[in-house]
Amino acid sequence: MSTTTSGPRRKRVGILISGRGSNMVSLIEAAQAPDYPAEIVCVISNRPEAGGLARAAVLGIPTQVIDHKAFASREAFEVELDRALRGHGVEIVACAGFMRKMTAGFVEGWRDAMINIHPSLLPSYKGLHTHARALEDGVKLAGCTVHFVRPELDSGPIIAQVAVPVLDGDTEDSLAGRILEAEHRLYPHALALVASGAAAVEGDRVVMRKLPINQTNPLFWPPLS
Ligand code: GRF
Repeated sequence: MSTTTSGPRRKRVGILISGRGSNMVSLIEAAQAPDYPAEIVCVISNRPEAGGLARAAVLGIPTQVIDHKAFASREAFEVELDRALRGHGVEIVACAGFMRKMTAGFVEGWRDAMINIHPSLLPSYKGLHTHARALEDGVKLAGCTVHFVRPELDSGPIIAQVAVPVLDGDTEDSLAGRILEAEHRLYPHALALVASGAAAVEGDRVVMRKLPINQTNPLFWPPLS
């Protein structure tokens, strides 16, 4: 069931979304490769209207809605979310545009097993409106980051990043679009590093335990010529 012809058992991954799910699609598609070290076993949304739910279903992934509005507290919602993830035998949680603040208790329950993608070169530009803030500051390099999740917002050991140039005339939309393309290359790479055991947490940072598996590291997007 979860074995590949060439290697060890694939890690079972659950994806959390709240919206359109384009990063989710990039993970699902990457995991279709027989040598990818993870399989996507479920997609869970806290919003019933999330566009990503239909996209996941088309790709044959079981989906579930756990509507946070149906719960009296953040903790009660998370109990249900945790139950669903563990019910699917999830070993790694991948947040992909999951727009729900999580309690420290929930985050610690998935310590070093929950990752997130953020559209900036962390630790710069935590929080929302990253592209507008980068444009306002006149930075010449933006990018995206995949990191292990810690209770503090957009914090945690950094697994991988891609740098993206800010071009003259960029608008929030044009910069967001260029960074999103980079995200779609970065996230499958970073998940592969975690699922294969190549990326390991040591203290506050990630170290590479062995040579990255069969994945191209997209350090810059577009690629430098
Ligand atoms: C992405 O930009 C991601 O970095 C951020 O939320 C956005 C989600 O987009 N956390 P999508 O739902 O994956 O298309």
